Amino acid sequence: MRLNRYLARAGIASRRAADELIKKGRVTVNGQRGELNTFVAARDVVEVDGERVGKQDLAHVLLNKPLGVVTTASDPEGRPTVVDLVGYEARVVPVGRLDIDTSGILLLTNDGDLAHRLAHPRYGVEKTYVADIEGDLTQPAIAALAAGVELEDGTTAPARARQLGRSRVELVLHEGRNRQVRRMCEAVGFPVVRLRRTGYAGLDVSKVPTGESRALTRDEVEALRRLVGL
Ligand code: URA
Repeated sequence: MRLNRYLARAGIASRRAADELIKKGRVTVNGQRGELNTFVAARDVVEVDGERVGKQDLAHVLLNKPLGVVTTASDPEGRPTVVDLVGYEARVVPVGRLDIDTSGILLLTNDGDLAHRLAHPRYGVEKTYVADIEGDLTQPAIAALAAGVELEDGTTAPARARQLGRSRVELVLHEGRNRQVRRMCEAVGFPVVRLRRTGYAGLDVSKVPTGESRALTRDEVEALRRLVGL
């Protein structure tokens, strides 16, 4: 496979970041400087900054994220991160992000290709959210959420919106803009007081207690890969 892909699969960097490492001459293959068009086979010895890269096993972890945990690998303010929480030996990173004050399903993986595609808007991966809002929800608000809401970064794409209770709405989105659900609900006059992601790309965490995680099954990984054309 191509060198950047090999580095991504080894959990070293995304493919794009791997290209940068290669361009900077930090990657060697069998002792020779690697190039963007270098192909690597299993027997080749790949080193980054002189350190051997082992093709680590791919890990895919499903976390039921609690509130108060940040979706990064390390936090300059020292707050707990989702990576600390899953405590995986493999260098897994979160796929996309959930706000510190959002709970629910979050995928972490060292599978660079898969993570890249799942997070890419082109693949429009389905995400389901349940929001508790201030006040009593109205039919026009639900219709507006479904049709598309004007936000400062553009109108949202059509979504599925369903009332689950007097002050509770379920939204199924194929976009993933920053604080999108909070901003959409606010825009239709119903600020969010509690937000939970209940579904991601056909997966759910109903059987995983909050704060805990589990590895995806092989079938689940295969289904994800098919979903994004891998
Ligand atoms: N929308 C939000 O507002 N917050 C999240 O964490 C995810 C989606």
